[in-house]
Amino acid sequence: MFSLSFIAPFALLPFVAAQSSDFQLGIAGIEAHFKQSLLVPELLAAFDPTALIDVAYSGNSIQPGQPFTKDQVGSTPTVTINSNGASLSGNYTLALVDPGPVGADTSAGVTRHWLVNGLTISGTSFNNATSFAVTEYAGPAPPAGDGPHRYAFLVFEQPSSFAPPTGFDQANIGVSKFDLNAYVKDSGLGALVAGTYMTVEEGQATASLQSTSAVRCSQTFWQQ
Ligand SMILES: *[C@@H]1O[C@H](CO)[C@@H](O)[C@H](O)[C@H]1NC(C)=O
Ligand SMILES: *[C@@H]1O[C@H](CO)[C@@H](O)[C@H](O)[C@H]1NC(C)=O
Repeated sequence: MFSLSFIAPFALLPFVAAQSSDFQLGIAGIEAHFKQSLLVPELLAAFDPTALIDVAYSGNSIQPGQPFTKDQVGSTPTVTINSNGASLSGNYTLALVDPGPVGADTSAGVTRHWLVNGLTISGTSFNNATSFAVTEYAGPAPPAGDGPHRYAFLVFEQPSSFAPPTGFDQANIGVSKFDLNAYVKDSGLGALVAGTYMTVEEGQATASLQSTSAVRCSQTFWQQ
């Protein structure tokens, strides 16, 4: 009895360490993707996530930077979050924005495809019992000939002092351009805790790139 209970905790250590290092690799990977795709600095000045999100369409998880046709991503995806055990209490805001193709002029703003305030998190799931959809999910529809647009899913902490700016305090305002960073600042949103992205190009066939590693997939993609 003594030796069993003594040994058991140590036997678990390699498993816990492996899980934690997978999480750290995931964080480093998504940071690299945001830089490679120039979402940093074109959309965000910095991206230092503390959690990982998974976005799945009809049960199929997207890989960071994965190219899709608009038909493949037309229905509302399921978003889950992994904080490696860290507490995710309080409210969160989820946004999906399109800053356009690499190098696009975003001085007129980025296109808002989804914006939900007041989400809570239980386990890995978002709970929308107290949420408020400023913009319901609206699938990507980039113009033909524009090249691949980047669609970034972002999760922000939403402190109790959060106050939506004028125009963003009503439900269902639909897709339009807005200044994401001004919105974050003016509303008092907190840290950007997690994000991922996909690309969609009008008129392109179904994704032909197969990822051997997620990072390499993105490199190949952006070197085209
Ligand atoms: C809450 O989630 C349900 C199920 O996913 C969805 O049908 C509903 O539109 C969501 N409500 C809001 C406000 O996002
Ligand atoms: C979360 O949002 C709900 C609905 O707006 C609000 O009642 C609640 O106080 C908020 N909780 C925190 C911790 O901000």
